[in-house]
Amino acid sequence: MTTLTPSTSTILDLFRLGGRHALVTGGAQGIGLEIARGLAGAGARVTIADMNPETGEEAARDLGGAFETLNVTDVGAVRALAARLTDVDILVNNAGIVRNTPAEDTPDDDWRAVMSVNVDGVFWCCREFGRNMLARGRGSIVSTASMSGLISNHPQPQAAYNASKAAVIHLTRSLAGEWAGRGVRVNAVAPGYTATPLTKRGLETPEWRDTWLKETPMGRLAEPSEIAPAVLYLASDAASFVTGHTLVVDGGYTVW
Ligand code: NAI
Repeated sequence: MTTLTPSTSTILDLFRLGGRHALVTGGAQGIGLEIARGLAGAGARVTIADMNPETGEEAARDLGGAFETLNVTDVGAVRALAARLTDVDILVNNAGIVRNTPAEDTPDDDWRAVMSVNVDGVFWCCREFGRNMLARGRGSIVSTASMSGLISNHPQPQAAYNASKAAVIHLTRSLAGEWAGRGVRVNAVAPGYTATPLTKRGLETPEWRDTWLKETPMGRLAEPSEIAPAVLYLASDAASFVTGHTLVVDGGYTVW
């Protein structure tokens, strides 16, 4: 734990991650890739864990980090990775998927797929890497939730996704309470619409795109690089008294 001593440190030192090992799930592209870049830029040794080695290996190479193929829904694989990488100080649960189906027509498999990645995957990683952190008495977990965990998006139907992100927000509070006294902080970020492959189809659908822009007070989507600094803050000692919090980064979407 870093204590701010005016004579020897500046406030910016609290954001530095030298000597820390950060693992970012879903870090091969989009928001996760910018988070991985941001944490590496702050001095962390970064491991990208993603189910897509084609994009992930190159991404890790570019930022001087390591790559691990991981499907977060595979609890055995998560357990095995955590058993191998016992020194992870910062866990970013970022892997997530969406399915846009009207609630009444949602196939069982779509519901399960969304819950499996967005909720089960987050919990498996928190439990397995969190246990190591508790044993070492320190660690910081940041999950990529969404404003969809706070509001119900429209016009696109995505009940499973919205419910899954609400679960991430409340899981964050629950784990924060359990682990606060043992040196492990647990927080989340809640991005608004962000320009990534995930939102590409929506942007190509005029009705969706127009609604998204009209209802975001800033009138635009976020760039993934605008989400990463919020994760850096929560992951670092700058947030040493922050736990159980979900930091909204949505261009004002949730104020209306
Ligand atoms: P993306 O689709 O561009 O990237 C997701 C990454 O996660 C990909 O590299 C993919 O291979 C990986 N992934 C997917 N399933 C996985 C699994 N089972 N195991 C391991 N890796 C897996 O998505 P994007 O937009 O970068 O989203 C990242 C996170 O941010 C997600 O949790 C998403 O729900 C959340 N989010 C995205 C928003 C947006 O507007 N793009 C807004 C709010 C939240």
